[in-house]
Order: sequence, then C-alpha cells, then structure tokens
Amino acid sequence: MEKFNVAIDGPAGAGKSTIAKAVAKKLGCIYIDTGAMYRAIGVTVLQKGIEPKDEANVAGILDDINMEIISKEDGQHILINGTDVNGIIRTPEASMAASAVATIPKVRLKLVDIQRKIASRNNVVMDGRDIGTYVLPNAEIKIFLTASVEERASRRHKELMEKGENCSLDEVIKDMIARDKQDSEREFAPLKQADDSILVDTTTLSLDESIMAILKIVEESKLNGTV
Ligand code: DC
Repeated sequence: MEKFNVAIDGPAGAGKSTIAKAVAKKLGCIYIDTGAMYRAIGVTVLQKGIEPKDEANVAGILDDINMEIISKEDGQHILINGTDVNGIIRTPEASMAASAVATIPKVRLKLVDIQRKIASRNNVVMDGRDIGTYVLPNAEIKIFLTASVEERASRRHKELMEKGENCSLDEVIKDMIARDKQDSEREFAPLKQADDSILVDTTTLSLDESIMAILKIVEESKLNGTV
C-alpha cells in the first residue's frame, strides 16, 4: 500500500473523532486522536493538584509522565505510566484542562514528537487542531472539519447527557466558545485551517454524509495522483 497520511483538524465538537475513526477503518489506516493525548496530560496534571495553566509546574512534571498509545479492539487507548486513562478523559473538566495544557510549548513538543513518530511508521488518519499546519505539514490529504458553534455544542451536550453527565446546553456553548478561543489564540501551533486543506462544514450533514464526504475527497485525491 502507498504511504499516505490524512490530517483532520477543526474546532471542538465538529465530529472529528467519530468521523476520522470511521474513515481510518475504511482506508485501513491507524486512527490517532491527538486530542486524547492532551486530555491525558490535562487529567494527570489535575490529579497531581497542579493548575493546568501553570506553565512552570506543568513543564516540571512532564519528564515524569510516560505516555504510551496502544490500539485495542475498541480503538486507541492511552496509558500514563502504565495506567489506562481512557475512562477519565472525556469530562468537561478534562476538556478545559486539555485546552489549557495545550498552550504550553513543552507539552506540545513532547506530544508532537510521539505523533510524528507514529505517522512516519504507519499510514494514519490523525485528528487534532494543528495536524495539517504543524504536525504533518506534508500530509497527502488535509481536511478542516467544522460546524456552527450551536450545532457543535448541541452534539456535545447530547453525548454528555447520554453518559449521565448533567449539564445545560448553555454551559456547553459557553465552554465551547471559551475553548475555541483558547485553542485558536494560543501562540504556538494554534487551531487554524491550513492553506492547502479542504473545508468540510458538517452543520447540516449526518454522520454518514460527513464520512462519505471525506472518503470522496480521498478518492478524488487518489484519482488526481495526490495519494
Ligand atoms: O479534540 P479534543 O476536544 O479532544 O481536544 C482537547 C483539547 O486538546 C483541545 O481543546 C485543544 C487541545 N488539542 C490541541 O491543542 N492540539 C491538538 N492537535 C489536539 C487537541
């Protein structure tokens, strides 16, 4: 099989993980959820009683955090110093902690190094905020996935309610706007559409339609020789 990588970036709640996971399965690639990596650092920092925005203290414990990414039947799992943290990284607190630690250059450099290593050895579909602009600037296919903030918040709210996390839609909208702002205004590798990426707006698309839209872009790239 040809070596190729697909970068999928976009704001919170655009459906990146679900869509990227399905696209990876269809293409026979490894799916890498980079947001989960920032979440894992975020929850570890919280567990140690450190404020996620406290750059000096967060940077100070990074060398003691060993992160392993493993592939299981149900997808990607992250081990921090040998412990699987998948069950604790999807809360609203973990989201905000992830966004805060993600502004710290030392955190990004540590995670980007792992991400680039995996992508150099495998065909990957990797999703995040800076994959097309910074992590894999030479990715063969770059997608910027977005949707209106109301639609993104309403999808995230539904997900949280299904998991039994009680919160109002207004709270989710507020958190999402704050997170978008922090992710796109940080200095180092902010959330930004790469000039050579293709914009896919999923506001009015179903999950299946969004997956089909991306597979179509991959097919077209194969036809015109990009992949
Ligand atoms: O995709 P997500 O919602 O799981 O990401 C959680 C946070 O991690 C997000 O608010 C910003 C940060 N992040 C990042 O800065 N760069 C990435 N490549 C992925 C996520």
